[in-house]
Amino acid sequence: MPKKSKSRKRAVRIKVRKSDVHGHGVYAMELIPKGTRIIEYMGQRVSWEAAPNDENDPHTFNFGLDNGEVINPEIGGNDARWINHSCDPNCEANEEDDRIFIDAIRDIEPGEELFYDYALEIDEPITEESKKKFACYCGSPNCRGTMLDIS
Ligand SMILES: C[S@@+](CC[C@H](N)C(=O)[O-])C[C@H]1O[C@@H](n2cnc3c(N)ncnc32)[C@H](O)[C@@H]1O
Ligand SMILES: [Zn+2]
Repeated sequence: MPKKSKSRKRAVRIKVRKSDVHGHGVYAMELIPKGTRIIEYMGQRVSWEAAPNDENDPHTFNFGLDNGEVINPEIGGNDARWINHSCDPNCEANEEDDRIFIDAIRDIEPGEELFYDYALEIDEPITEESKKKFACYCGSPNCRGTMLDIS
């Protein structure tokens, strides 16, 4: 009897390696067409209060959800945690049913680093000091100088 065929989507080939922007980053290992769902941002779901957080350290892996929870990839996380920020990104983070997916917003060539716009939100008002604290080194011509959402 023929086996039942399962229509499971193939994982997109990506790789974690050192980045020119910051620490480690994630790179495309094949052409990733616009609209491709690349990876889910995995990790333990915790309340903001329970999330590991040092307010004086702009280096963070926490991903805030609309329901007030935070995904902490230090427990149960995957390679999505290494994706860096750019002010001119080739990906975007989309929230669906309390899950975060990283999707390509344009065709991405093999060897290109993946980026999405973190658009970070902080509790205090945004000042020149806080912009500097969350300084962006993406190097794109339209870099806004900070990973904070200043729109
Ligand atoms: C989820 S981690 C990304 C992985 C990080 N590159 C690493 O090696 O740990 C997010 C942190 O990386 C740094 N980062 C990411 N994109 C950056 C950028 N464009 N400019 C400066 N720092 C960045 C910030 O410290 C940010 O809080
Ligand atoms: Zn930038």
